[in-house]
Amino acid sequence: TNPLRLGIAGLGTVGVGVVKIVRKHAKLLEARAGRPIEIIAVSARSRDKDRGVDIARYDWEDDPVAMARRDDIDVLVELMGGSDGPAKAAVEAAIASGKHVVTANKALLAHHGQDLAAAAEKAGTVLRFEAAVAGGIPVIKALTEGLAGNEITKVMGVMNGTCNYILTRMEATHQGYNALFEEAHKLGFLEADPQLDVGGIDAGHKLSLLASIAFGTQVNFDAVELEGIEQISLRDIEEAAEMGYRIKLLGVAQMTGRGLEQRMSPCLVPAASPLGQLEGGTNMVVIEGDSVGQIVMRGAGAGEGPTASAVMGDVVDLARGLDISTFGMPASRLVPAKPATAAVPAAY
Ligand code: HSE
Repeated sequence: TNPLRLGIAGLGTVGVGVVKIVRKHAKLLEARAGRPIEIIAVSARSRDKDRGVDIARYDWEDDPVAMARRDDIDVLVELMGGSDGPAKAAVEAAIASGKHVVTANKALLAHHGQDLAAAAEKAGTVLRFEAAVAGGIPVIKALTEGLAGNEITKVMGVMNGTCNYILTRMEATHQGYNALFEEAHKLGFLEADPQLDVGGIDAGHKLSLLASIAFGTQVNFDAVELEGIEQISLRDIEEAAEMGYRIKLLGVAQMTGRGLEQRMSPCLVPAASPLGQLEGGTNMVVIEGDSVGQIVMRGAGAGEGPTASAVMGDVVDLARGLDISTFGMPASRLVPAKPATAAVPAAY
């Protein structure tokens, strides 16, 4: 049967993880998808870098846009990152030439997801982004598929592992923010622009994507109330602990009578609650639906295996011929939402 043919743009941590899964699980993937999944071409900044996987068997493209347009690929897997530049150009080129797109790029979607989803629908292609939000946790599929029968009342979560690592380590070591920022930096946890992590921007991107799916609204990252973790002192953390709370960089999206509230900020959470028990570099997403009640999902929000796992979930869906709209409904049906500022920055 005809294989699903991939072109992978970006061979960093996640790209290498995808190559490994395609190789390691070729038979399993074929059984699940009903057809083989093959990598045809790859593109990255450096061809010669040692990545621990053999990429010489794939066609090499210096230009991801040229790869996106190749007639012999069905899907562009975009793992370059960045809200504009080559990632955006490659995704647009893929859609314009009738290819499906799987991406892990939260910044791109938070800024251009609405337009890209509309373009994909117009072109008759599918754009999916499970890996862009909470890494290995299949939260996009939970919202768009498993929970499609619910009115969603609230989505919240810890969606930046680096911030959770820093806050958790402040608690455990009684060192200040700056020392733990340095530690996270040395461990390679921080984004190329660390402000994306500690300023809450990366997590805010993810929250804006979940809010769109949950509430059927147009993606509106600019309306996310953002506050990072840089101002959190050791004293804040210790006082919270004395009261039985922990401080988490928590995102909350809910539809209120005043409009759509989207907020990403340091919050007090009860130490005994699921969110309060979240340690280290992990993520947690809490979803509330009118029929299902509350669902809690916890897992790795970053890293080679977990993020590649999410990418492959989308790839297998495409191989199966599943055509799920990017934000769970056609882009033209997403409505603009009046932004509401949080009434009371409360504890959760
Ligand atoms: N910088 C992100 C994090 C990576 O720390 O969670 C995953 O998007």
